[in-house]
Amino acid sequence: MILFRFFVALANCFALAVNARSDMPEPMIITIDGPAGSGKSTAARLLAQRLGFEFLDTGAMYRAVTLAALRFQSELHDQTALSRLLDTLQIELPRDRVVLNGEDVTSLIRTPEITAASGPIASSPVVRQRLVEWQRKIAAGRNMVCEGRDQGTIVFPEAQCKFFLVADAAERARRRQRELQARGEPANFEDVLAAQQARDARDATRAVGPMTPAADAVLLDSTSLSIEDMVTRMEQAIRRHALAPASDNQK
Ligand code: DC
Repeated sequence: MILFRFFVALANCFALAVNARSDMPEPMIITIDGPAGSGKSTAARLLAQRLGFEFLDTGAMYRAVTLAALRFQSELHDQTALSRLLDTLQIELPRDRVVLNGEDVTSLIRTPEITAASGPIASSPVVRQRLVEWQRKIAAGRNMVCEGRDQGTIVFPEAQCKFFLVADAAERARRRQRELQARGEPANFEDVLAAQQARDARDATRAVGPMTPAADAVLLDSTSLSIEDMVTRMEQAIRRHALAPASDNQK
């Protein structure tokens, strides 16, 4: 099954290479989806850097809306209130920063409180609809690596290359625990694992934009692969089948 997905994905990349033979190659969207702790943010950032593409962290957008909702005490499940709140928000993502209505909230959106409260926001149909629109607008006409849960399925179903990252649950929880400890927030492994399982289940089963691999995504398991190696595999697949000069593709 994984092999089948891999060949479908490579066929898509090849189709792009054919398009790229015209004088003006189409902008390219690469999607990377997967659960928390699968390494997708780091991989997406590094891949974008290596390809000279821009990077879109869609989780940061859900986090910024969560922060705004908590601040304005909007009831987190009230769709009408959330819709009104969204009308007042402007989210900008300059390099490695998140700016909400002009305020730099880069660190504020990474707290465990925001992570915990992001559930109802990520499950909200009105929030998802709006953020999908914003994400498409941001990416229009650009070469971009887009990272999240629904990028390959809902937001960019036509993306030329799609990856879905997985990793062993205990390894993902250890990574998250180390991340929290590095920020001076000691965390118990069992608690981190339990919270992660709850998030995985919620992300995978919500009615709108559930986390699931696109049928044409390449599945990569990051459990025992370094980020560098994983990105090298992604880059090789993309370069070989999508960015190679036309003459190479004819060989
Ligand atoms: O990837 P992250 O932990 O920064 O994501 C924050 C929250 O947003 C988390 O609840 C998952 C959710 N999310 C989503 O539902 N769809 C996306 N495309 C990205 C993130």
